[in-house]
Amino acid sequence: MKTDWFTSARFGMFIHWGIYSIPAKGEWSYANDPWNPGEYEAFAKKFDPENFDPEKWANLAKAAGMKYVVFTTKHHDGFCMFDSHYTDYKVTNTPFGKDVTKMVVDAFRKAGLKIGFYHSLPDWTHPGYADPESPEFYRTKTIHTPTDAEYRSFLDYLYNSVEQLMTGYGRIDLLFFDYTSKYKDGTDYFDRNRLLEMIYRHQPDILVNDRLAFSKEHVCDFDYYTPEVTVMNQPPSVKGRPVLWESCATMNDNWGYCKGDENYKSLSTLVCGLLGCVSQNGNLLLNVGPKPDGSLPDMTIAKLEELARWFADNGEAVTGCGKAEYAAPFGLCYTRKGKNIYAGVLTAPMGDIILPQLKGKVREITLLKNGSKASLIDFWGFELLKSDDLRIRMRGLAPGDVLKIELL
Ligand code: GLC
Repeated sequence: MKTDWFTSARFGMFIHWGIYSIPAKGEWSYANDPWNPGEYEAFAKKFDPENFDPEKWANLAKAAGMKYVVFTTKHHDGFCMFDSHYTDYKVTNTPFGKDVTKMVVDAFRKAGLKIGFYHSLPDWTHPGYADPESPEFYRTKTIHTPTDAEYRSFLDYLYNSVEQLMTGYGRIDLLFFDYTSKYKDGTDYFDRNRLLEMIYRHQPDILVNDRLAFSKEHVCDFDYYTPEVTVMNQPPSVKGRPVLWESCATMNDNWGYCKGDENYKSLSTLVCGLLGCVSQNGNLLLNVGPKPDGSLPDMTIAKLEELARWFADNGEAVTGCGKAEYAAPFGLCYTRKGKNIYAGVLTAPMGDIILPQLKGKVREITLLKNGSKASLIDFWGFELLKSDDLRIRMRGLAPGDVLKIELL
């Protein structure tokens, strides 16, 4: 099935990179900061990332256990990180002059990762698009109404840009549209079916996310669903059918590079989030925001290296895994692959752990990071255990550790 790689991959790298990395206040800077006319756009004339080395990014991602990448070809600010045929506001017109999207694609593909494109539906620079979350509204407290001709030219621009992305970069595995037309509720503003027909014609096996939905009633059968910075409590379903999903999340508090944002999540938060997603049949798309010189922030690299060390020990609890049919006890979350259940430690236990439903079903329990075995305790006085409860003992467990429970 065309979705097999996605449900096996479980972990991907999101990359938010654009000229917004130069003012270094996150990817919404064009809207959020009081730029004079033309001031933000002029960052395009400064974009020259002398330390851009996408192979380094790809190797860091691969070592961390990530199996795919999603790269921002264009964010809401309208600046194209690819060599667009349809605008001059693009990376090939900067001092750098090269198609960074192509370079990212080549490097990650070479490293064996699947390739995904992020593409913003809203475009703050196009007269055919307007909504209140925009530089125009933040500055003037008004929004213009596009003329019919402007709207039609916006639709063509979006269609043509996506078509170029679907035809100029080889096989594309994933397309992440952002954002839903929450201000155009009930209106098919982006002419969804025309776009989708073209996308699947060029890339029959591509997976397209859910953000072309234009109202709750019009949520349709997208290939996958993309909740943001959260872990679902159960596998989501749409109209009664289970759906594929991926949560995207920041490592710190911003998607695009933001100077001074050192509020990074701990390794245990990141891996517990990852295990939490997998435990509900979901993926995690973890973001990095490269700096204007093309390098990743030191803290980002440090986190990716920590993740790589964790993944070397515990990756078998992630790749190819999904939801286990057993209920996890307090403080643990389960993933499953074949005859193995993987119990991720979310909270350091007070002492012994009681595993419901598993008595008489377990061959052995091993701590993945060092191979030590848990004791299976058959009898412990007159406890209020259920007949199928299994009490186990393993000292010194910490959040992010993983126990492999081999079933008989
Ligand atoms: C949020 C942010 C947007 C980012 C997206 C990723 O919607 O506002 O800038 O690209 O998350 O899903």
